[in-house]
Amino acid sequence: MKESKLRSQNWFGKSGKDGFIYRAWMKNQGIPSDFFEGKPVIGICNTWSELTPCNAHFRDLAEAVKKGVLEAGGFPVEFPVMSLGETLIKPTAMLYRNLASMDVEESIRANPIDGVVLLCGCDKTTPSLVMGACSVDLPTLVISGGPMMKGKWKGKDIGTSDVWRFAEAYKLGELSQEEFVEAEACMARTQGHCAVMGTASTMATMVEALGLSLPNNAAIPATDARRKVISQLSGRRIVEMVQENLTLSKILTRETFENAIKVNAAIGGSTNFVIHLLAIAGRIGVDLSIDDFDRLSQDIPLLANLQPSGEHFMEDLYYAGGLPAVMKQMLEHLHKNTITVNGKTIAENVTQSEIYNSDIISSLENPFKPNSGIAVVKGNLAPNGAIIKPSAATPALMKHRGKAVVFENIEDYHAKIDDPDLDIDENSVMVLKNVGPKGYPGMAEVGNMSLPKKLLEKGIKDMVRISDGRMSGTGFGTVVLHVSPEAAAGGNIALVQNGDWIALDVDNRSLTLEVSEEELENRRKNWIAPNLNINRGYVNLYINHVEQAHLGADMSFLKGKSGSEVARDSH
Ligand code: FES
Ligand code: MG
Repeated sequence: MKESKLRSQNWFGKSGKDGFIYRAWMKNQGIPSDFFEGKPVIGICNTWSELTPCNAHFRDLAEAVKKGVLEAGGFPVEFPVMSLGETLIKPTAMLYRNLASMDVEESIRANPIDGVVLLCGCDKTTPSLVMGACSVDLPTLVISGGPMMKGKWKGKDIGTSDVWRFAEAYKLGELSQEEFVEAEACMARTQGHCAVMGTASTMATMVEALGLSLPNNAAIPATDARRKVISQLSGRRIVEMVQENLTLSKILTRETFENAIKVNAAIGGSTNFVIHLLAIAGRIGVDLSIDDFDRLSQDIPLLANLQPSGEHFMEDLYYAGGLPAVMKQMLEHLHKNTITVNGKTIAENVTQSEIYNSDIISSLENPFKPNSGIAVVKGNLAPNGAIIKPSAATPALMKHRGKAVVFENIEDYHAKIDDPDLDIDENSVMVLKNVGPKGYPGMAEVGNMSLPKKLLEKGIKDMVRISDGRMSGTGFGTVVLHVSPEAAAGGNIALVQNGDWIALDVDNRSLTLEVSEEELENRRKNWIAPNLNINRGYVNLYINHVEQAHLGADMSFLKGKSGSEVARDSH
């Protein structure tokens, strides 16, 4: 290692007044002088927060990372960044993903850090940290907090996908208030993030598939002692990565992104994967488009039997062999030589793995389901594309023509959905407008609208639903999401009226509003953009700069990277 090359020496290696200031205040934490003499400084970027319950155990993980950093001769420094919890933040954590990424980027660049460990868990904490880190491009390694143990209730295994089932049962009076409250405690019974293949697990899988974490990062449960072991080993490894100058941009190539898209298909990952991976690609400077997701996942069957596309939970995936066993199965579809944070290739990392339970991880020859991944549908209702997750949809509805029942915004939906007089039947197509990036704002997870009570009572379980919003990675149904351009940006979805015919044809990748172009033109003349009435603060910045869903919903001025150089000193 050439010590003079450590960027932290631009702080701690200085003589005179500047060096005095940079070192002296750090010493109030009880740090010996030799720590400032050329040890790699490892930032531990922590999203611990009691308001992000999925990440509330992260102080323990940070301690394990520090042990590893110290063992390898590094100097660990833990720092907090904005933490985004899915469950408490209103109007939606997604509104703040880009803000958190700015916090991460500037915190890393502005400080004497040579390499960084990102502690990620709840949905948005992974993309926001990876996006921010990409814009600096230091050696970076991700540790996920791990999934919760599966819930146990009335003899059944339960997880976040049951929230949607419970909510419908409660609406129908099949679950009492007492049972509902009891189920809450039974579902979220350990630390960790959602136990199904929701967005958090999808993101943990994404970082492992991208090669940004050590093998098995995705599935080790939060409470399993091996979660601390992988954290400690990650602490050791990041010090070596600094010595090797193994930066993010050396790992995140076009091939790596293609691998991640294929792995996401094989595990039935969240639709949110699309928007986050596009945003990450935009930061690191890899050319990726929404069409790549459809094209690259077409030959990949669903290998993992995990909720919401299947039955099982993340801890089951770990016991069955973990993500390496899934990736070994599909190795012929992957770019085998992409490098990962441990310095080995993806293929080297997975060759030793085995499947221990073929109900949970199936083989390529005999897959759990033939179709997987993300389908991108286009047409006059979504000229720039919309997405649907076939593995979580109803096969019979994948080709469907029905009359639109329109909700102008989320309040309109809540006001009308259970009105017995609402003109809707199981063949209708529910259309929800103004829940996109600008329109909500923040593109909330409301696209998997719950069905009208009167149809639930008839036993209807699924209907075609279309919106410019997102859905929780734990959600399911024949739900068309991320319609671009969104209603608030003047997309054609804004022009849909009650009774219009809409045709969805997933096999042919089309989504058509059967209204003539002349009629749409007339409607467009009368269309008035919704007044969001947001005139200040971050949200104003956000709505003025956020890009559409098919581009990843990053803010235009955040794309790309500024590197790690900072020329001036502070005093
Ligand atoms: Fe945090 Fe699901 S709510 S991961
Ligand atoms: Mg979510």
